[in-house]
Amino acid sequence: MTTPKLLDTTDKSTAHIKPDGVPIAETILLPGDPLRAKFIAQTYLDDAKCFNEVRNMLGFTGTYQGTPISVMGTGMGIPSISLYTWELIHVFGVKNLIRVGSCGALQEDIELYDVVLAQGASTDSNYLEQFALPGNLALLSSFRLLEAAKRIADDKGQRTHVGNVLSSDIFYSADEQYNQKWAQMGVLTVEMEAAGLFANAAAAGVDALAIFTVSDHLLRGQHASTEERQTAFTQMIEIALGLA
Ligand code: HPA
Repeated sequence: MTTPKLLDTTDKSTAHIKPDGVPIAETILLPGDPLRAKFIAQTYLDDAKCFNEVRNMLGFTGTYQGTPISVMGTGMGIPSISLYTWELIHVFGVKNLIRVGSCGALQEDIELYDVVLAQGASTDSNYLEQFALPGNLALLSSFRLLEAAKRIADDKGQRTHVGNVLSSDIFYSADEQYNQKWAQMGVLTVEMEAAGLFANAAAAGVDALAIFTVSDHLLRGQHASTEERQTAFTQMIEIALGLA
């Protein structure tokens, strides 16, 4: 991997990101919750500086083991992550975008707190229609980032699953068979953002990955407790930071 650089943001701002001259790193971690971004910056980064407060979508740049890295919230859903990542890529020049989030398991061999690495993202969103492709694009993560993340997870002895995730626009579905239909196609888990990120990355020729901890098991109706979520969250963040 090439060494991530700091991007000069002087005189650059968008409707949603106003860095006021604070640089943004070429590699960025993207939790959904902006307070998670603040927690990651305060807990893991050295010399973290805030680069965005617009709509409280907090973003920070610091270093991890001497390497520049940024972290910013994306909000929930494909429309939200898509607009932030579009601006990060096209206006600020970010090159490696790594979503870190939680997901709901759709397979019996996946346990609560396991880590899932998204090899690809299926979706019920029509976000891709804007590209007017003569077919369906398979939305994939960056193999370079995926391979590196899997190696880091294995070295840590972390249980991981690699495969297809569902990025759904629907949290509360009217179709009671909704999850089952995707599960039957081998989809590992459901979340709400990765497909938007992967579509933007594909269109721009940059690298993206999504790493999840399993916070819910949708076949078993299990839900993680707050403390247990934190331990699993730490493992996921350490894998993502290892990519810096
Ligand atoms: N659905 C969608 N997104 C999620 C879930 C879920 O059950 N759990 C965590 N993120």
